Amino acid sequence: MKKIQDCKVLGVKNLNDDTYILELTTPETPEIIAAGNFAEIKVDHTPDVFLRRPLSIFDVDYTNKKISFFIKITGKGTALLKEAELEQNINIIYPLGNSFKPEANGNALVIGGGSGIAPLLLLANELKIKKSEITFLLGGRKNTDIHLFKEFEKYGTVLITTEDGSLGEKGRVTDHSIFNSINGFTKIYTCGPNPMMKAVGEIASANDIPCEVSLENMMACGFGACLCCVTETHEGNKCVCTEGPVFNVNDLKW
Ligand SMILES: Cc1cc2nc3c(=O)[nH]c(=O)nc-3n(C[C@H](O)[C@H](O)[C@H](O)COP(=O)(O)OP(=O)(O)OC[C@H]3O[C@@H](n4cnc5c(N)ncnc54)[C@H](O)[C@@H]3O)c2cc1C
Ligand code: FES
Repeated sequence: MKKIQDCKVLGVKNLNDDTYILELTTPETPEIIAAGNFAEIKVDHTPDVFLRRPLSIFDVDYTNKKISFFIKITGKGTALLKEAELEQNINIIYPLGNSFKPEANGNALVIGGGSGIAPLLLLANELKIKKSEITFLLGGRKNTDIHLFKEFEKYGTVLITTEDGSLGEKGRVTDHSIFNSINGFTKIYTCGPNPMMKAVGEIASANDIPCEVSLENMMACGFGACLCCVTETHEGNKCVCTEGPVFNVNDLKW
């Protein structure tokens, strides 16, 4: 069930200058969250950031009533959230959107670019419960863009690309040598910049591997009223906020 709740700030954990984890405590046991679900977060009431900002749910702890977000600063809203003070109330609407459909007993390739890794730890947990093997491929411009290596490593093999070659293989995600032989993978899951997901989707389709992508279109309302988030699919326009953010790549008209 969707909830609108005031949550208290439990902490802001800086990962580097522009990336952090925001931890909140929920007033009651959090709603059940599936990997890919997101929240619409109210930043403050000033005209610049009047609209809520959509952020994937990064982690949830039902016992301790905690919910957290992995955030990269891209503008005023994400910068302001980093300044949140302990115990401050932050209003969120969640859980919104659909979720990944983790395959059972599969061999998953999970690809994250930049802040696109946000929903992928929850996905890893769901895949593990369903007894799938996991290989992660994380990409960034430079080594400091690669986060949470150790957390992902708990669930499977972690491969890395950086565009400047400072960590892992040099190049973009789709330049990684894993793509020389991907036929052993039974499903690909990805979240990151659209050009990256499009390139991954093309490789998946060419190799006949099912692929789910989580889109990060600009959003306003977050629940299907304003139509500002629509994406074109083979079945017509769909709202990314209610019918996504996760889509089968073959359904999309990019
Ligand atoms: C379903 C969904 C889940 C998301 N999950 C995360 C997440 O877990 N972590 C995270 O860091 N970010 C996530 N994003 C992106 C995040 O919502 C935007 O970065 C944020 O809203 C920008 O707000 P701002 O006020 O900081 O920047 P603004 O001042 O609003 O914009 C600054 C710059 O960012 C660009 N921008 C704004 N919105 C988006 C967007 N949706 N995607 C890409 N660029 C955008 C603008 O074009 C502008 O150039 C998600 C987006 C969606 C739709
Ligand atoms: S954000 Fe308003 S319809 Fe999707």
